[in-house]
Amino acid sequence: MARPADEGVVQAVKEAVDIVQVVGEVVNLRRTGANYLGLCPFHGEKTPSFTVSPARKFFHCFGCGESGDVLTFVMRHQNLPFWEALKQLAGRYHIPLPERELSHQEREADNRRQELYLVNQRAADLYHDLLLNDPRAALAREYLAKRRIPPEIITRFRLGYAPERWDFLSKALPDTPPELLVEAGLIVARDSGGGFYDRFRQRVLFPIINHSGRHLGFGGRALSDGQQPKYLNSPETAVFTKGRTLFGLFQAKEAIRRTGRAVVVEGNFDLISLVAAGIGEVVAPLGTALTPQHVRALKGYAGEVVLLFDGDAAGVKAALRAVPLFLSARLPARVVVLPDGHDPDTFINQYGPAELTTRLEAALSLPEFAVEQLVARHGLGLEGKGRILEELRPLVAAIDDKDLQRSLFISHFSRTLGLTPEQLGQALAGGLGLPPAPPVPAPALPRQGIKLTDSERHLLAFLVLYPACLDDFVEAGLLEVMASPAAFAIVEAMREAARQTPDGGAERLLDYLAGPEERDFVAAQLIDAPTNLPEREREAAEKIGWLLENRRKTRTRELTTRIKEAQLQNDQALVLELLTEKKKLSLGGQG
Ligand code: CTP
Ligand code: MN
Repeated sequence: MARPADEGVVQAVKEAVDIVQVVGEVVNLRRTGANYLGLCPFHGEKTPSFTVSPARKFFHCFGCGESGDVLTFVMRHQNLPFWEALKQLAGRYHIPLPERELSHQEREADNRRQELYLVNQRAADLYHDLLLNDPRAALAREYLAKRRIPPEIITRFRLGYAPERWDFLSKALPDTPPELLVEAGLIVARDSGGGFYDRFRQRVLFPIINHSGRHLGFGGRALSDGQQPKYLNSPETAVFTKGRTLFGLFQAKEAIRRTGRAVVVEGNFDLISLVAAGIGEVVAPLGTALTPQHVRALKGYAGEVVLLFDGDAAGVKAALRAVPLFLSARLPARVVVLPDGHDPDTFINQYGPAELTTRLEAALSLPEFAVEQLVARHGLGLEGKGRILEELRPLVAAIDDKDLQRSLFISHFSRTLGLTPEQLGQALAGGLGLPPAPPVPAPALPRQGIKLTDSERHLLAFLVLYPACLDDFVEAGLLEVMASPAAFAIVEAMREAARQTPDGGAERLLDYLAGPEERDFVAAQLIDAPTNLPEREREAAEKIGWLLENRRKTRTRELTTRIKEAQLQNDQALVLELLTEKKKLSLGGQG
């Protein structure tokens, strides 16, 4: 992996950072002995094979072979360049980074982002304070009370109110450059005549906060019925992208972890009403359809998702569209569609939280729901079936071929559709005159274990933990024992790691290995071993002794063969010479 040279800083960050905490924020980890186990965020899996070793400060997935240290994790998971990841972690753990390491441009962009977070946060404070205390917010407070939003919820979500003024923010933040407020989407430049005006006026504001608590922008609900649009959100900015952001995730994280599930609702008011009613594990996309990024974000916290949709055609459509997203992310999802005319907010206000909870528990699985809807729409006549198949094909194509889910999906649907599973499988794969399904992204291939001989395995298992012994082992004949390609690859990687990062820990070897089998092997040694073996010296000496003895035996065998050959050729001089050598060897072996 290409890394800038300043290993000192990198080491300092890795030392300071708690990898379990960092990974634990996005992967549901459970303790197993000295390590932690969870579902891999880098490939779809249902049985956890993603392991984090706090002692060794690295992660490894025995499913897809991804591994590395905490920096690698942040880089891959957030798709950040190395320096961004380093900076993020260093900032969090208060480790000073040498300034010159960032390019001028990167630093500028990063500073700008920080400024945007801060100005959004300052605005949120102002709006929140206004909602709580200002006479101008009296109507807004009444409105929220009428909608049964209690004070705790107003505080928890830092709800705010933007007064009916064109210059509230510019007046309240006189020292903030207008360009920054414009870039944050908080004020808007007038078309003509110069000057600016506030974007949010006479609206209840929902601060949009990302999973780590940074303020990205606002959603604003009109206070009166005549006011258009009903919702006005911050525009997309350098820090705010709708398709990646889930309203409420920051506040819901803990509840999602605790309950293992995330409930997705459509509206901001739905969300806070559910939280007010004691259902805390709720998130809402900001008026957009769910995206793969949303689903990925949820997968970091939730074992399953319940989609809670309004009882109208749009809700059903949204559910159908979500099917491939969840199937391809392999995140189990279920659906509740509320009675016609209700959204979660009105439902809970009319029927109470217990009734909603019952429905959440009884939710149908998303694929099952999809089929039910399709049958209801097209019927089970010949033509209807053809239509259903057409609509199902993209859904099934999103499932990994080898996955159990696909066969469950097919066996379930074939029964409903009156086809044999084979027929349905064929139809969905493009048979029955239908065009072929689009290609499915490759699943992580099931891997064979690493191929090593017993002696290779023993020696390498030790060397992985104590790479400092490598030279001594090589001198004692390590390479004469290594015969498998995998063993060579590991030794080669050890040498490379020693050359490039001589002061790194044993786990850095993972960065130098390309083959997933080899990384599995190395990770397995690291994960199971104590960081400091009391018997290390003795073990090293023992193994070196074994190597030397092995070398002596091999040479002796060679000499014996050559002596036999010399005898056959009647070369007495050579026989004598070889015998002397052999004698010397056996004496050396004893001494
Ligand atoms: N939305 C939006 N822009 C709009 C309308 C809606 O961004 N013009 C988003 C908002 O995030 C809103 C969500 O879509 O919360 C769902 O819309 P809707 O169901 O109309 O909103 P509710 O939250 O249910 O609001 P209310 O109960 O006050 O009608
Ligand atoms: Mn509503």
